Amino acid sequence: MNKPLEDAAALQKPIKQHVIDPETCIRCYTCEESCPIDAITHDDNNVVVDATTCDYCMACIAPCPTGAIDNWRVVMEPYSLDDQFSWEELPEQEELGGDDAGSSAVEALDEEMERLLNEAHAGAGGKSKPPASASKPSVNLFTMGHPATATVQGNYRLTSETADSDVRHIILDLADVSFPVLEGQSIGIIPPGTDDNGKPYLPRLYSISSPRDGERPQTNNLSLTVKREPMGVCSNYVCDLKKGDKVQLTGPFGATFLMPNDPQANIIMICTGTGSAPFRAITMRRQRTMPEADGRMMLFFGARTADALPYFGPLKKVPDRILEKELCFSRATEGPKEYVQDRMRTERERVLKLLKSERTHIYVCGLKGMEEGVDAALAEIASEGAFDWPALRKQMREEGRYHVETY
Ligand code: A2P
Repeated sequence: MNKPLEDAAALQKPIKQHVIDPETCIRCYTCEESCPIDAITHDDNNVVVDATTCDYCMACIAPCPTGAIDNWRVVMEPYSLDDQFSWEELPEQEELGGDDAGSSAVEALDEEMERLLNEAHAGAGGKSKPPASASKPSVNLFTMGHPATATVQGNYRLTSETADSDVRHIILDLADVSFPVLEGQSIGIIPPGTDDNGKPYLPRLYSISSPRDGERPQTNNLSLTVKREPMGVCSNYVCDLKKGDKVQLTGPFGATFLMPNDPQANIIMICTGTGSAPFRAITMRRQRTMPEADGRMMLFFGARTADALPYFGPLKKVPDRILEKELCFSRATEGPKEYVQDRMRTERERVLKLLKSERTHIYVCGLKGMEEGVDAALAEIASEGAFDWPALRKQMREEGRYHVETY
């Protein structure tokens, strides 16, 4: 038993147990990889924290792309691994009888936890809520032990042959499998074969880039935007798939990075590379169901060059009335190196106008590295409107209007 648990048990005091929200978790296993003491594990159903091992180091908090990791329950008796494996949602915080004030040992631990958590939350990421008007997502319907089978319907290269990166649009046909998804959700793909230890590969997570009713309205398929990574087991498998190949899927996953179902909502989307996948889905959904929506949609999209920017051609065709496009390039032969945060500063007046509206939602998706720069740009722009950005960001997060998914 670890020290905090021993202290709490000896004093018959409650402990704060670290738990993972199975509804929000996208099963990317990043937390498991980032835990220095192997306190995080998984089964077919859930990823869970072992209360007898976790020492609250918080190393897993910042890397989690969804904030599912950032959940706590004050308990007298910690939930066991089996309890947690069986959860479909987090249990409510139980009322604790008796003297809950906590011993000084537990309180001291809480203070230290608070400090470490604040440090882990210093970036733009953190816990998030879905927009109030979002549709209710289905999660974790298919697991490693019970995957869905899809058939490859198409595999198209999105970047030019001369671009350094090979990014592909993969269409998966679900035939008669009921696999309900929402824009912003992810699915897992199980690559065939085993790892160096002879264990089957874990599923790799990919954001869905098509809207809920398929690539074309009323088709039971979905698309992914996948970049071939050197030595990447799953990305090479997916990028090499041929029409007619069968693929094993898990999911769907994710319950917060969802779009508002509100034609008045303004949506600011900020991405790099394949982070554009959910924004393609969101844009197509808006265009399909609310073409006359009053809410504005603005996309800041960064890539090295125009021919390395996924969906460059189709994006250009989306009318500005539906989507205001700010495409910027870091390695174009002409023009200065420009990142998304640079373009946001150039377009500060338009961004600030949207920030002032209580109907504005912000979504950030792509490279982890851009989080800090985007946050700094938003802070600068907000301050010009006399907003305190950390306070506004917190409010937006609590209102389900601020979403970050970076890796
Ligand atoms: P660069 O690599 O020139 O520094 P891709 O996924 O195709 O590599 O595209 C990622 C894009 O994001 C590139 O244009 C890359 O620029 C850019 N990028 C890299 N780091 C950051 C950062 N910290 N903030 C914003 N954009 C970044």
